[in-house]
Amino acid sequence: MAEPEEPVRHMSSEEFRRAGYAVIDWLADYAERVADLPVMPTTEPGDIRAQLPLSAPLVGESFDAILNDVSDVLVPGLMHWQSPNFFGYFPANTSPPSILGDLLCAGLGVQGMLWQTSPACTELETHVLDWLVDMLGLPARFRSDGLGGGVLQDSASSATLCALLAARERATDYRAREVGTDADLIAYCSEETHSSLEKAAAISGLGRQRLRKIPTDQNSALEVTALRIAIEADIDAGLRPFFVCASVGTTSSLAVDPVAKISEITRVHGMWLHVDAAMAGTATLCPEFRHLNDGLEHADSYCFNPHKWMLTNFDCDCFFVADREPLVRALSVMPEYLRNSVTDRGAAIDYRDWQVPLGRRFRALKLWCVIRSYGVSGLQQLVRNHVALASEFARWIEDDPNFELARPRSLNLVCFRAIGDDARNRALLESLNRSGRLFMSHTLIDGRFTLRLCIGQTYTTRDHVEAAWQAIRQA
Ligand SMILES: Cc1ncc(COP(=O)(O)O)c(C=O)c1O
Repeated sequence: MAEPEEPVRHMSSEEFRRAGYAVIDWLADYAERVADLPVMPTTEPGDIRAQLPLSAPLVGESFDAILNDVSDVLVPGLMHWQSPNFFGYFPANTSPPSILGDLLCAGLGVQGMLWQTSPACTELETHVLDWLVDMLGLPARFRSDGLGGGVLQDSASSATLCALLAARERATDYRAREVGTDADLIAYCSEETHSSLEKAAAISGLGRQRLRKIPTDQNSALEVTALRIAIEADIDAGLRPFFVCASVGTTSSLAVDPVAKISEITRVHGMWLHVDAAMAGTATLCPEFRHLNDGLEHADSYCFNPHKWMLTNFDCDCFFVADREPLVRALSVMPEYLRNSVTDRGAAIDYRDWQVPLGRRFRALKLWCVIRSYGVSGLQQLVRNHVALASEFARWIEDDPNFELARPRSLNLVCFRAIGDDARNRALLESLNRSGRLFMSHTLIDGRFTLRLCIGQTYTTRDHVEAAWQAIRQA
């Protein structure tokens, strides 16, 4: 008989504590110095790999050596999304309680695919999502104590895919999952809807050609009359409109689709209405922004991302449905090895039936840590501060004859241009980003190159926004 191998050498508890303290120290230092780092790296493709050994080490290395390489090799190749001078895309902010919550999640290492596989994982998630319904002033039908409920997805893209799959099942009386998607189903969104819906159409079997992109109005919001005409034309052609995705805060300019008016149409035709509020949803923590929820009482599903603007590190999307049955029936399969008495009795939620993958981590932990640490009032304050800063920045743009707003400011996003052509604005953005003093991104509005300044970083203050404005004017 072969001799047993030597046991694997793991870090001892003492070594783990020491390395763990070093990592927390490293992260605290990083948070303190990140404002001074160039926001955008200047690396060329391949630069980082050229500094890594060609093959993996045969013998394990010390954690100190690994942490040194994080500092020396990786940090210079990072875009510093946590810099208070990061104003690009949408934020992906984080916070100390969120980092610690994620660390707890990693350390506990539980799987929450079934209630049975970690009851606390499921119940905390349900509980926190019910809290959020109240915190955001969402319709009570999204709470878990009725027919609906919430679930954490990795991303808004996954939420949108799940909404489309649930809608498809409801529209086909649950045949699509057995025999494939009917060829006459048609979905709708606007020309400004996030590209994740197009991806969902491609991978759900619907097909991108059966997703109609409806034109938008002068505010980049979906044109309701055009939607009505498109749906009626499709019905006349013998097709079956089944799904509309409305955006509360488009990616380009944070435009808000008229959800209430759209819902008048979806209700007439028995269509599924999904509302994507990926970033803007966070604003409804504050009662003064609750008008963004108008019409939601008739939506079938809704999502927003705490991993954008609610101090919770990626990944964390909250997805709510008014009726969980179509979602669960769309995504549920029951192999023998997962069977258990609680599931058989239908006595608890099994979140594996609310998402595409089977396995799931304890994402609710970090969200719970954030909400408890900041309290609702702390999170409201964050939103109010960022919106006030964006409002001030928009006033500076309006008051300067060298610049113009491309759209009225929407919440924490300002879309603007230097007076002049696209080439001038592109050059301006490139030189600003290359300077490392700040980072912004761009979009096309009315077909023109437009700069976007989105204020959503955890530690961004008026000083950072003022410094950005100085840099922009100098450039
Ligand atoms: C409106 C909107 N929806 C969906 C998404 C996709 O988000 P995620 O990365 O969570 O899939 C974004 C990303 O910016 C977005 O702006």
